[in-house]
Amino acid sequence: MNNKAIITSALPYANGEIHLGHVASTYLPADITTRFLKLKGVEAYYICASDDFGTPILIQAEKEKKDPANYVKFWNKRDLEDFIAFGIKFDFFYRTSSPENIEFVQNVFKKLCENGHIYEKEIIQFYCKFDKKFLPDRYVIGRCPYCKAEDQYSDLCEKCGRVPTEIENPRCSICKNIPVKEKTKHYFFKLTNFVKDLNQWLEENPHLQKDVKKYVQNWIRDGLVDWDITRDISWGVSIPEPEAKGKVFYGWFDNHLAYISSTIKFLNEKGIDGIKFWNSADIYHFIGKDIVYHHYLFLPAMRIGIKKEYKLPDYIPTRGHLMLQAKKISKSRNWYIGLKEFLNLYPADYLRFYLTSITPYRQDDLNFDWDEFSAKINSELIGNVGNFVNRSLGFTQKNHAGVVPAEDQLDEIDRDVKDKITNFAGQLGELMEQNHHDRAIKKILEFSAHFNQYFQRKEPWKNGPGTKSCVYIAVNAVRSLSIGLFPFLPESAGKIWSQLNMQGKVSDQKWESISEFGVKPDHRIGDVFPLFKKVEDADIQKYKAKLGSS
Ligand code: MF3
Ligand code: ZN
Repeated sequence: MNNKAIITSALPYANGEIHLGHVASTYLPADITTRFLKLKGVEAYYICASDDFGTPILIQAEKEKKDPANYVKFWNKRDLEDFIAFGIKFDFFYRTSSPENIEFVQNVFKKLCENGHIYEKEIIQFYCKFDKKFLPDRYVIGRCPYCKAEDQYSDLCEKCGRVPTEIENPRCSICKNIPVKEKTKHYFFKLTNFVKDLNQWLEENPHLQKDVKKYVQNWIRDGLVDWDITRDISWGVSIPEPEAKGKVFYGWFDNHLAYISSTIKFLNEKGIDGIKFWNSADIYHFIGKDIVYHHYLFLPAMRIGIKKEYKLPDYIPTRGHLMLQAKKISKSRNWYIGLKEFLNLYPADYLRFYLTSITPYRQDDLNFDWDEFSAKINSELIGNVGNFVNRSLGFTQKNHAGVVPAEDQLDEIDRDVKDKITNFAGQLGELMEQNHHDRAIKKILEFSAHFNQYFQRKEPWKNGPGTKSCVYIAVNAVRSLSIGLFPFLPESAGKIWSQLNMQGKVSDQKWESISEFGVKPDHRIGDVFPLFKKVEDADIQKYKAKLGSS
């Protein structure tokens, strides 16, 4: 494991609130990985930014009759607030519209020009006579030429994940009229220059997901097309060429460069050489499967095009879309749950627990189901973890005056569960390193269930021989749980830590110390109180009924 890491997650468009669909596949897994790496002693930084430019933003700002600059400023702030409330801890949250990123993007463009990867071409663009503007990307909707899905944006088919060369049956997304075609001069990025390098990178990088890799290799085999990086709109990074006045870069040209420009700004301000750090760190870009094309082709090709001045990604963990009650999330049909709204109902850790346990490290879609949420929280989080922590600490408080006893005698069973603690850091750590967060949570539940049974079987309330060992071991298992849970449930892990009355913060512990018996005999534990509150079925039925209506 590298001792340095940069972790990013797909930059949220600054055009609306963060909802459960965003966090499941991207922000939460990235946060968990960062917290884990930090416990492992890795110098890890989680960097994110709002994605401020491009047609998705401009369309939304125009709809709401707002100036785009103010509009993105509002969402940048609001998104960050919601992330913080959810326990997502960025080391830095910046924006693609920052002066640093604008300068960085223009420099990358110049270097790509010098290296022969950019050319100009006159193209025919859709133009709406009613709205009097060119209609790039989301300004046009129509049928996907590949999979024939209707009502897709011209820049991305949400059904098959491809970028259409030319959308069929086009309409203006503002007024729904059929657009005409007009000539305009655009810059193109020669993606076709990179077939060999991209194939080699895909082949040689050992950490990329196999299923995603196959997908991308097929796209390359089917033939790549050069990439139009110019837009005739007013909102974006301006193109540093005199003849390109009034034109800006395509949002997907500039946005991912903010991974780098934001990292460098952040590190340089900390007194660390940002470029050097980037190039010696493991680079992680967490994404949802809808933007595989951009992260496995455009992004690496651009980095290769500037002679790998900045290291290519090592990991691009890609997860599926979240469905809601088995239906596709849709803001326009009001079929979604805002993150802020959810956090008014339940603690962040409930959602973190549930989403992690249903989200595999694969591209399969996931499903948020209110009844399953309630069942998992009540039986697994509360019935298993909460119960074990509370009964062992409660028992110590009540029957041992809060003071942890020394072991008296050990039998086979005691020795067996002690081994569980000794092996836990390694076994759990392996799943974490492989990015299998769902399996890691399961392992934690197994651990906790095992100790629950142990406690039950040992019957310490009878105060027979071996009771002291049982209490000592159980309290130490609680300590191991606290550290192991920290990446997933930071707030609850902190509560357990303080009930244990351990020194320092749980976030400052070493991952390996999960396997130590860190609570010593004679240690006095703190106040004990229940960690969680049951999810009530009546509430769940209410929330279910509310979905889809407003
Ligand atoms: N804003 C984009 C989306 O939501 C993601 C941008 S990720 C980046 O689809 F790499 F481009 F920054
Ligand atoms: Zn399609």
